[in-house]
Amino acid sequence: MNLIFLGPPGVGKGTQALQVAAYAKLAHVATGDILRAAVKAGTKTGLEARSYMDSGRLVPDEVVNRLVRERLEEKDTQGGVLFDGYPRTPAQAQSLDAALRELGRKISGVFDFQAPDAVLVERISGRRTCGKCQKAYHVKFAPSKAGESCETCGGALVQRSDDKPETVQKRLDVYRKDTAGVGDHYRKAGVYQAIAADGPIGAITEDVLARVKRLA
Ligand code: AP5
Repeated sequence: MNLIFLGPPGVGKGTQALQVAAYAKLAHVATGDILRAAVKAGTKTGLEARSYMDSGRLVPDEVVNRLVRERLEEKDTQGGVLFDGYPRTPAQAQSLDAALRELGRKISGVFDFQAPDAVLVERISGRRTCGKCQKAYHVKFAPSKAGESCETCGGALVQRSDDKPETVQKRLDVYRKDTAGVGDHYRKAGVYQAIAADGPIGAITEDVLARVKRLA
């Protein structure tokens, strides 16, 4: 099974992806995480991506498409992938279609998480992320039981550099402008489902897992 989690910044894609990937035994491929790891490691790709990410713009399609193609060569993706935050332009969707076709794989479902902007801004402004394993917490909705540290690995919790209010608005604008067409691409392919994502985390997980079970 190959799934795509679409949706605006802060809607909860990453939070749900961790649960669903573990349940369905899928490789979790989150382009934001891959890019942040490249920035942290100071690779050529990371240096190129950093200014786009810090200003809330999308990293160029050719860079992201190459990273995803390389990731799909890895063995753990053969049993299925959960793509989180990719594709987010129609050109990326076409590149993914071609890559999967070459590998004899296909997309089983695309879940488009939706919530009002006010909810997204509240979720992003309270988000704290583990600097080591990247797990997301929220000061109000999902606090760490270990205080300022990550429950899973003990890493220090930090605010992401692109979670500043001025960058968040830019990311929302970019999402509306560049990513809107991606839903249509998968609607035409008959694999699209909209998810109401403005409720509590646990209720959304139940809804998504029920849909995943129907696809299996
Ligand atoms: P990326 O890392 O993909 O960020 P994003 O899409 O902006 O999404 P977020 O990580 O902000 O949110 P999320 O939906 O995963 O929410 P989360 O679960 O953390 O991308 C970052 C940047 O990288 C981009 O701006 C771009 O520059 C670049 N990039 C990445 N992919 C790219 C691509 N394909 N092409 C080009 N450039 C790319 O939840 C948010 C918060 O809310 C957390 O604190 C969480 O605890 C809390 N929360 C979650 N669900 C709930 C709930 N139901 N109720 C209450 N709180 C909740």
